[in-house]
Amino acid sequence: MVHQATVTAPVNIAVVKYWGKRDTKLHLPTNSSLSVTLDQDYLCSTTTARADAAFKKEDGSPEDRDRLWLNGNEETIAGNGRFERCISEMRALRTKYEQTKPDATKLADLPLRIASHNSFPTAAGLASSASGYAALTAALAALYELNTFLPSSPAPAHLPIPALSKLARQGSGSACRSLMGGFVAWDMGAHADGRDSAARQIADEAHWPDMHAIICVASAAKKAVSSTAGMQATVATSPLHAARCGVPAPGAPVAAYASGRGLVDGPGGTMAQMQDAIRRKDFDTFAEVAMAESNQFHAVALDTRPPIRYMNDTSWNIVSAITAYNTLVAQRTRGQRKYAAAYTFDAGPNAVVYALQSDVREIIELLLALFPFAEGAAHDARTGMQAGERPFEDRLGVFGEEGWAGQAGVPEGWSEGVGPFEPGEVKRLIHTKVGPGPRVYEGFGRTDEARAVLGADGYPK
Ligand code: DP6
Repeated sequence: MVHQATVTAPVNIAVVKYWGKRDTKLHLPTNSSLSVTLDQDYLCSTTTARADAAFKKEDGSPEDRDRLWLNGNEETIAGNGRFERCISEMRALRTKYEQTKPDATKLADLPLRIASHNSFPTAAGLASSASGYAALTAALAALYELNTFLPSSPAPAHLPIPALSKLARQGSGSACRSLMGGFVAWDMGAHADGRDSAARQIADEAHWPDMHAIICVASAAKKAVSSTAGMQATVATSPLHAARCGVPAPGAPVAAYASGRGLVDGPGGTMAQMQDAIRRKDFDTFAEVAMAESNQFHAVALDTRPPIRYMNDTSWNIVSAITAYNTLVAQRTRGQRKYAAAYTFDAGPNAVVYALQSDVREIIELLLALFPFAEGAAHDARTGMQAGERPFEDRLGVFGEEGWAGQAGVPEGWSEGVGPFEPGEVKRLIHTKVGPGPRVYEGFGRTDEARAVLGADGYPK
């Protein structure tokens, strides 16, 4: 009997940004954050985990260690605190489970092989660490039968999803939010051991299904300053970040960070405003807070000494385009609507534009008109595109049954001052929408082997 689990986990893009840790080992943040989980049909991490006594080393002797591959390349687990913590904590939970349930199959002591595959370019500012660690944690939970994602699952819910999210958090902070679908808050918590620093679903994906996202890839290259290093430089040096988190000055002691303070967590702060906007499906407030949050995060990065610059000229051109579009919408509706599109940027130049389904076609046509693709843009490392893929694929059918045939154009009344920009500034557009949490394909009684990314030979497929 093969003990194997395969799961997919989604990407999430924050609209209230996590930036800064008060505890770098446990990944306890300096402020709460909130994100939208994106649909996994196109963007996801798929992870297969297998425990097997029959694994052999290359020389044929029995395997004595765990092994892990990311996109086909083997990673070293030993010495990588993030992998080690996730794996050892899950294994410890399985050990405990086997002790309390003596008839359970002995899996905890078997060597593990784990393969993970991202459907999008790693480190492109598309939060691959979030979906990756969420998938790793979920795959181990499914392999060890520690959790139930499926209401019909025969396994008892030993480990509820919020508890699982705390384990994923120790891999990468933002990963804790990818364990749930829809709209997810990560409460910073107050305790030093992190027991109250976990994700919480505000609303599931069915609450506001009209919420769409358009990802504008300005560069698929690896970022110059990693989030992990960048955020700690900010915590140590930025007075603006201290104000954001309600502490007296940079370098404040851990105890100074407490939930309920600062511009994010304080009364009427961005967390409260955003949760309320989502519950009421108020896009104007959602957009206003999301853009203000993105701006403040990048201001805090620039306020770091030495400064960190994640947005590039293309990012700023996208900001100008979205700002002009919102002005037009406000004029057109005589102020009934203030915003129809909201940009947000993570630790890189790529934009994610949130918009409601009814406006998405107009926005895509506008972006395609203002940011024409380079001539002959095709498969290449910078775009992260697969062979045969076009820079924009109408995956959600906004252009009708015929699909996209190159339509692009600015809406009536568009002010001439903004764009069009140089061809090739935006390398591709990915249209997606809000989606559910991780999916189990193998494990908990499911046996969809076709989704596995680890082959029968114990190596990545
Ligand atoms: C800008 O979760 O990648 O995307 O906890 O060090 O792994 P680590 O950092 P990570 O940081 C993400 C930062 C962000 C904002 C966000 O997702 O909230």
